[in-house]
Amino acid sequence: APIQVKKVCCIGAGYVGGPTCAVIALKCPQIQVTIVDLNQARIDAWNSPDFELPIYEPGLADVVKATRGKNLFFSSDVDRGIQEADLIFVSVNTPTKKSGVGAGFGADLHYVESATRRIAAVASSSKIVVEKSTVPCRTAESMRTILEANCKPGCRFDILSNPEFLAEGTAISDLFNPDRVLIGSLQTQEGKDACAALASVYANWVPKERILTVGLWSSELSKLAANAMLAQRISSINALSAICEATGANIDEVAHAVGYDSRVGPKFLRASVGFGGSCFQKDILNLVYLSESLHLPEVAAYWRQVVELNEYQKRRFSKIVVDALFNTITGKHIAVLGFAFKADTGDTRESPAISLIRDFLAERAYITVYDPKVEEAQIWMDLSEACPHLTLDQIKRQVTIVHSALEACKSKEAIVIATEWKEFREIDWQTVYNNMTKPAFVFDGRLLVDADKLRRIGFKVKVIGRGEVL
Ligand code: UDX
Ligand code: UDX
Ligand code: ADP
Repeated sequence: APIQVKKVCCIGAGYVGGPTCAVIALKCPQIQVTIVDLNQARIDAWNSPDFELPIYEPGLADVVKATRGKNLFFSSDVDRGIQEADLIFVSVNTPTKKSGVGAGFGADLHYVESATRRIAAVASSSKIVVEKSTVPCRTAESMRTILEANCKPGCRFDILSNPEFLAEGTAISDLFNPDRVLIGSLQTQEGKDACAALASVYANWVPKERILTVGLWSSELSKLAANAMLAQRISSINALSAICEATGANIDEVAHAVGYDSRVGPKFLRASVGFGGSCFQKDILNLVYLSESLHLPEVAAYWRQVVELNEYQKRRFSKIVVDALFNTITGKHIAVLGFAFKADTGDTRESPAISLIRDFLAERAYITVYDPKVEEAQIWMDLSEACPHLTLDQIKRQVTIVHSALEACKSKEAIVIATEWKEFREIDWQTVYNNMTKPAFVFDGRLLVDADKLRRIGFKVKVIGRGEVL
């Protein structure tokens, strides 16, 4: 008989595990879902009475309101979560290694390994173990080795790879209506049975033709490949944005014309100050590391260039700011609008805003930051990490955090748009202009503002990928 999943446990209550398993609970009322995490504060926030959840994601609170306490539970009792479940998602963090072999490239797998070892240690019945975190290829194999070596008699573990493709800021709609769900398994009968069990969970709301089943290694590689190719589109369009600026072409027009080719497609071609987020850079560096370990240096160099171009784009944009402000920003006052790595999230991992502010601090400018969702403490943490040679006190002498865009822009010489928050499009620019030091500059790193309108008000405007004079 097909395996029936009745109880699901998710290890890791973060940006991936939280929304994914909350949506499973919503769409599968017959399944009990428990999300566990070692971080008690995070669990408390997920359980908060007024739904002040630990991550900001449009629509997430409604999903949690509809399910929490019914068939969705959050707990720091990891062992109990493991013991009770038939199917366990491993959705822990896999940051790029900061030291040791593969530092700066390879993924730090110790969170995955310790979660796996915990499963082996406490499970007293058979489990389907699902690798959800993005990990280098063959991690599933390592997990299988650990589980099998520590298996109690009568227990068996089947490993699946089920990478998550949600994007932050649209996680809930991505989960409700995914382009595809990908499940990788061993091609043995047991592997296929486990795969069918997980597929039947998704079949509660995902059309069958969108549930793709492949081999374990293809699944793991597909996740890295998908992110690498998406990031490569952005680096391609950003490389073209530099040509546009040097020649007077307009990147919007170029992207529109190129994207009309159905073989290319119109999405994900917005030039920007650079991509950020916890996935793109990390996954490409994983791919680079993998290619090098497989003795494929040309392949490694190809993918590495996608990240290098992104670094170049960030540097290039801060140089545009300095150049336009008469080659010096020392002692000048600059507003940075947006700190998150993209709109509709409070997440700042690898945010280009961090690199920009680091560069501006190195020039000894004064920075005022406003972001609608990022917590102040997070900004201080990110800037401290980005500027290890400065103390937090020194940073605080140069950086101010405020609570509205208008306040941020007041009495400044320049405004830099680093995140494409919708509210920045609706700013009262005339008021902003009246309150700024003249000449008043706007640097749009996100193709957000109506440059002609701002110029009519009197601003000097520089938009990424446009060759016009200020
Ligand atoms: C990405 C993938 O989209 C998702 O499928 C995967 O599961 C995780 O990684 P995420 O990083 O959350 O999702 O957001 P995404 O929308 O992909 O944006 C990543 C970065 O690229 C952001 O900094 C964004 O501003 C930037 N971007 C995106 C551009 O600069 N231009 C674009 O056209 C699109
Ligand atoms: C190309 C462009 O498609 C066309 O729009 C432009 O006007 C001229 O250049 P062409 O070179 O005639 O057209 O053929 P195309 O079908 O693009 O193939 C180019 C090469 O890429 C061929 O060698 C083809 O075999 C190869 N290719 C194409 C692949 O290897 N894989 C693919 O998925 C597609
Ligand atoms: P992602 O973006 O991949 O979801 P996050 O960092 O947001 O990553 O979330 C990962 C979560 O996994 C963190 O809250 C962390 O505390 C949790 N975690 C890491 N290792 C373990 C473990 N061994 N057991 C339980 N939770 C863990």
